[in-house]
Amino acid sequence: MKSALVVYFSFDGNTKLIAEKIGETLNADVIELKTSKKYPTEGIGKYFWGGKSVVFGDKPTLTNKSIDLSGYDTIIIGTPVWAGSFAPPIRSFVNDYKIVNKKIAIFASHGGGGAAKCFAKLKEALPENKFVGEIAFVEPKKNPECIESAAKWAATLS
Ligand SMILES: Cc1cc2nc3c(=O)[nH]c(=O)nc-3n(C[C@H](O)[C@H](O)[C@H](O)COP(=O)(O)O)c2cc1C
Repeated sequence: MKSALVVYFSFDGNTKLIAEKIGETLNADVIELKTSKKYPTEGIGKYFWGGKSVVFGDKPTLTNKSIDLSGYDTIIIGTPVWAGSFAPPIRSFVNDYKIVNKKIAIFASHGGGGAAKCFAKLKEALPENKFVGEIAFVEPKKNPECIESAAKWAATLS
């Protein structure tokens, strides 16, 4: 692999665990997307505001410094599944950067509902690219075997 970038959002740390393992396996740069908007971290509000922002297609402002994608031929995007889709900061990322002619691999953490719809939507949002892999994990913080699966999967991308 020429050069890979792992870009992810993680609210509770599950996607982060996987992102870091993939970055380590591929010796890739890793960027965690951060937003100025703060979502409630507990209770029903967490699901309500998160779910609502997915449904309304929110694109919260990213506070990361500008990312130069030109040096990467592969971008590996990680997201938690929110309301069956990808999390709003990923929508911001896709919206803020013109991502074309890249190899893209996607991974997601979810609570048991699966990631098929999330992956389909992410592919739809990045039409002019080549998708080279996808993998979903159920709550990696509770299921540490996910970390090894992530490393094995990452190795198939190189
Ligand atoms: C706002 C919100 C919506 C969620 N929606 C779903 C869902 O539709 N399906 C699912 O399986 N899990 C859902 N979850 C659970 C997360 O996808 C799961 O806990 C994931 O591992 C979190 O990743 P993170 O720790 O990187 O944020 C949701 C969690 C939140 C906070």
